[in-house]
Amino acid sequence: LTEVAAFLDEKAKRTEQALETHFASWNDAPPLLIEAMRYSLFAPCKRLRPALALGAAEIVAGEEATALPLACAVEMIHTYSLIHDDLPAMDNDDLRRGQPTAHKKYGEAVAILAGDTMLTMAFDMLAQAGNIAVIREVAAAAGVSGMAAGQLMDLQYENQQAPIEILRDIHRRKTGALIRVSVRGGAMLAGANADDLAALTRYGECIGLAFQIADDILDIVGEESRIGKPVGSDVARNKSTYPSLLGIEQARALACETAAEAEEALANFGAEATAFRSLVRYIIDRDQ
Ligand code: IPE
Ligand code: IPE
Ligand code: MG
Ligand code: MG
Ligand code: MG
Repeated sequence: LTEVAAFLDEKAKRTEQALETHFASWNDAPPLLIEAMRYSLFAPCKRLRPALALGAAEIVAGEEATALPLACAVEMIHTYSLIHDDLPAMDNDDLRRGQPTAHKKYGEAVAILAGDTMLTMAFDMLAQAGNIAVIREVAAAAGVSGMAAGQLMDLQYENQQAPIEILRDIHRRKTGALIRVSVRGGAMLAGANADDLAALTRYGECIGLAFQIADDILDIVGEESRIGKPVGSDVARNKSTYPSLLGIEQARALACETAAEAEEALANFGAEATAFRSLVRYIIDRDQ
């Protein structure tokens, strides 16, 4: 796990530097809007999605620079999704990334607008990569076929248990899509061939599902001080989750199976995929 920590840390530093530069270029913004965005974006967290974007580019091309705009964009979109996910109209949570949620700190209106601004400016950042196919895939992954759509379904299946195929679809959309496009987009920007792109896409899909199953489990067995958000939020809102449907043990088994598929997807890569292989275990064994 220390090797994974070093990998995540290195990618986080690169991403945070690029985000700082991007923020510094907006000299026309009301200070409160910038402050509220920075509050959520620069709070301590894992930076998994940027690490996936940069890591995929590194596997394909031996260097990560081409994927830096994508790394920043997916972290901005992810952070916006967290701000809105925590709002009273959605999960109504008070703690995020170890601090009061954006709406607790700044009020709902500012939190909503900080999210809106971050989503919008993520595409400004992504446009710098100059790849229209990637921009369109990120839009789909955040929007109609991905995160926002999945979030709607997540709310529809409060107070009624989603059957397993629907639960899988909810997780694929609300969490899986952005994780998938982080990996896939990073590979595309690095000029991946069709076979490598397909393999890395499969990897992204599997770790995306495993990641959200682990998140569901941590909502029950996690420690607030480690996960940086409330424990028991899903139970309180009677959410459809893997542990609520299958029980914790079977949910863990499914996360393991899915993780094994993710590792298989990397079978045709060599030492260049070592970090991605270690990341699989981290995703299901993490406590934060
Ligand atoms: C939390 O994401 C929300 C989900 C999609 C499960 P992370 O667990 O990646 O949260 P941060 O970015 O580290 O705060
Ligand atoms: C949300 O899933 C996924 C998002 C798109 C934010 P959760 O609602 O389970 O995420 P957490 O547990 O609040 O981080
Ligand atoms: Mg939610
Ligand atoms: Mg939530
Ligand atoms: Mg959760």
